[in-house]
Amino acid sequence: MTTKATKRAPAKKAAAASETLTVTDNRTGKTYELPIVDGTIKATDLRTIKVDDDDFGMMTYDPAFMNTASCRSAITFIDGDVGILRYRGYPIDQLAEKSSFLEVSYLLNYGELPNKTQLSEWTQWINAHAFVDESIRSVVEGFRHDAHPMAVLQAAIGGLSTIYPESKELGDPDNRMQQIVRLMAKTPTIGAWAFRRNIGRALLNPNPERSYASNLLHMMFDESGIEYNFDPRIERALDILLILHADHEQNCSTSAVRSVGSSETDVYQAASAGVAALYGPLHGGANESVLKMLRRIGSKDNIPDFVQGVKERRELLMGFGHRVYKNYDPRAKIVHKTAHEVFEVTGVNPLLEIAVELEKIALEDEFFVARKLYPNVDFYSGLIYEALKLPAEMFTVMFAIGRMPGWLAQWNELVGDSEQKISRPRQIYVGYDERNYVPMSKRK
Ligand SMILES: CC(C)(COP(=O)(O)OP(=O)(O)OC[C@H]1O[C@@H](n2cnc3c(N)ncnc32)[C@H](O)[C@@H]1OP(=O)(O)O)[C@@H](O)C(=O)NCCC(=O)NCCS
Repeated sequence: MTTKATKRAPAKKAAAASETLTVTDNRTGKTYELPIVDGTIKATDLRTIKVDDDDFGMMTYDPAFMNTASCRSAITFIDGDVGILRYRGYPIDQLAEKSSFLEVSYLLNYGELPNKTQLSEWTQWINAHAFVDESIRSVVEGFRHDAHPMAVLQAAIGGLSTIYPESKELGDPDNRMQQIVRLMAKTPTIGAWAFRRNIGRALLNPNPERSYASNLLHMMFDESGIEYNFDPRIERALDILLILHADHEQNCSTSAVRSVGSSETDVYQAASAGVAALYGPLHGGANESVLKMLRRIGSKDNIPDFVQGVKERRELLMGFGHRVYKNYDPRAKIVHKTAHEVFEVTGVNPLLEIAVELEKIALEDEFFVARKLYPNVDFYSGLIYEALKLPAEMFTVMFAIGRMPGWLAQWNELVGDSEQKISRPRQIYVGYDERNYVPMSKRK
């Protein structure tokens, strides 16, 4: 096993004498020796560093968690410097090429690839739970017709805990897996319903006979009584996109799931926190922003002006840059290829031309090269979703459906991790010292 922090040393090795960090506090002249385990020091060990007995002890200041490991995880490995992404050790390109989304979701949640029987049972288990309670249908139908589908998805997923109160029994692993299956199964149904609500169509029920991707397509696009035939290449492209989004270690939404889950609430609340975090334009909303940006650019001729605007900080090049990848996002390569395969079926989207040219110019420009800004997974995924005739608001919903197995595996890992407690960061207080209440009559 490897961790980012221990690329050179085997994980879980006991700290040898030399595996310590010696810190001298120049305020007191005292020296402290802190154990190094897995290439990290424990932040709480710093608390022994004090000026005097009344001192609270040293803390670290790490806004946005730029350099803090919040957990031990055996699920996903990323080496952003060289562009590696692996689920449970398997490279993302092999999974995208050879596997299916349900197989990957089994892998993430059980830790191993399923054999034939296991995959068949997993598939049947999920298919059997794809129906969603009528009360949640009413929740979806209760929103305004133009409600953003991510807000609808977030509310409806949280609402599922009203139907499964037993989900609060976190101590039973079988019970946890039952809820995981429910969320895997019901998220596409709710996502499709949120879309149907937007387009003023009846909310369709899932068909347990269909594959995961096929079911999703049918629930979104069929008319009542009319079933469309989708090209298998479209189904496969959708399945690949779901695989690419399935997990990405401790990103913003996964951290939200873990943080909310750490209060021992049920998994539906934790997963709905993941949806809420994913909704933001700097996270899952980025592919929607990419499409808007490409439309605004409008033609290849306007690219130089746009790039100039980015360099002058008037714009962000959406779909570029990543907190972790300082190299080509390995998923972006696969999405780029998949986009071309989809366009063979649907016809070329003129925005693809702009995207390809924009990428070419940006990759050669010193501004982007110096900052190691490369296309991320969202740069091309929106173009595929648009080719599938999905409105931009639905792109993040598709991302949420894909990310669900990752959130669930991470939540389950958290619940089973004896080192975890309720998440509770510290702060550096910069406000007023104590002051007396001012009556209203004396306020300016
Ligand atoms: C993803 C993202 C939030 C990561 O942010 P981050 O890790 O905090 O990176 P930083 O903001 O520190 O960026 C480092 C530098 O690159 C610049 N930069 C980062 N992403 C940029 C982008 N998309 N366009 C233009 N400049 C960008 C920053 O301005 C900064 O420049 P500076 O050092 O001269 O100030 C950021 O790259 C971004 O906003 N990208 C666009 C949104 C997107 O595609 N999100 C999807 C992620 S999968």
